[in-house]
Amino acid sequence: RWTVDNFEENLIKHPHVIQASLWIKQNEVVALPTETVYGLAGNAQSDHAIARIFEAKGRPSDNPLIVHISDRKQLKGLVSSIPLNAQKLMDAFWPGPLTIVLPKGKDVSEKVTAGLSTVAVRMPNHAIALAVIEASGVPLAAPSANLSGKPSPTTANHVYEDLKGKIPGIVDGGSTGVGVESTVVECTDETVTILRPGGVTFEDLEHVVGTGNVMIDPGIQNEKLAPRSPGMKYTHYAPDAPFVLVDGSPDFLQQLVDKERAAGKKIGILTTDERVDFYRADCVIPAGRRENPETVAQHLYEALRSFNEASVDQIFGEVFPKTGVGVAIMNRLEKSAGGNIIKEQ
Ligand code: TXA
Ligand code: MG
Repeated sequence: RWTVDNFEENLIKHPHVIQASLWIKQNEVVALPTETVYGLAGNAQSDHAIARIFEAKGRPSDNPLIVHISDRKQLKGLVSSIPLNAQKLMDAFWPGPLTIVLPKGKDVSEKVTAGLSTVAVRMPNHAIALAVIEASGVPLAAPSANLSGKPSPTTANHVYEDLKGKIPGIVDGGSTGVGVESTVVECTDETVTILRPGGVTFEDLEHVVGTGNVMIDPGIQNEKLAPRSPGMKYTHYAPDAPFVLVDGSPDFLQQLVDKERAAGKKIGILTTDERVDFYRADCVIPAGRRENPETVAQHLYEALRSFNEASVDQIFGEVFPKTGVGVAIMNRLEKSAGGNIIKEQ
């Protein structure tokens, strides 16, 4: 594990950044921090490196990867065209937590795009990630650095838990900021379609490309439709114990918990700072502050992972309003719960 201070100057000359880039030049893979979650990065131009990424994560090969760049010059060869609205989104949100799916260029391996005619690209807003890309001299393909199906890693420790012995190194830049993965939008023409909600919200996007120009892939919400982003169809972010969301009052949630505990089960509750003292259970974990959903996004995966250490038999979680970043939070929670939700009558 190579610790690097994100605020250090001249990161591109940092010995650990150089170490990471040397592995990447040898077509090995390394984990590194971004502003969203840790990524497992490899040379996007090397089929060997791409194969190593899929192998280390245990990821299905029909799920394409995001290509990370540090400079827009790297788009040459990577994409074949950039619609005006895509350009506007880059101007507004790069570097930042927005991934843009564009028509794929001639230099992109089929292994990265899982055979699709499009490629997903983003420029992360993280000094260490940018320095490693620059030092490596190539765009980096990087999925989240978790085992496939587990919550994404927001600390180097999470990466270590999942990938120890499987990769040569982790660049440790501390906790990530946003906490949920980037928003993925398709922008192959002037319509912007959200394929995965994230830190950049529907409202943020509409503000830049204009009202009426942002759509939401109906496959995200509707179980019966195939999502346009292959990754959205998999079970995800799941803690070890069964997890169910409760759409109701804290009293209602507590009654559900009491019933299970009376039957001898060890119960966890995923809540917020505002309600943490209200509940009685074996393990009560606040993700962040309900009044500030950004803090919930930031600590959501860490909270989900901590139920594994507590070895609970069942987890009950609160729901959040689906506005702003709440859309991304609820998308992850619903996946994590496998769609299990109990509604108070
Ligand atoms: O914040 C993030 O985006 C993080 C950090 C490391 O950058 N990365 C990340 O990658 O979340 P991953 O592989 O866990 O998720 C990528 C998502 C998947 O749902 C995948 O199906 C989708 O992007 N995707 C990739 N290429 C695509 C394409 N050409 N068309 C549609 N969806 C695509
Ligand atoms: Mg992932």
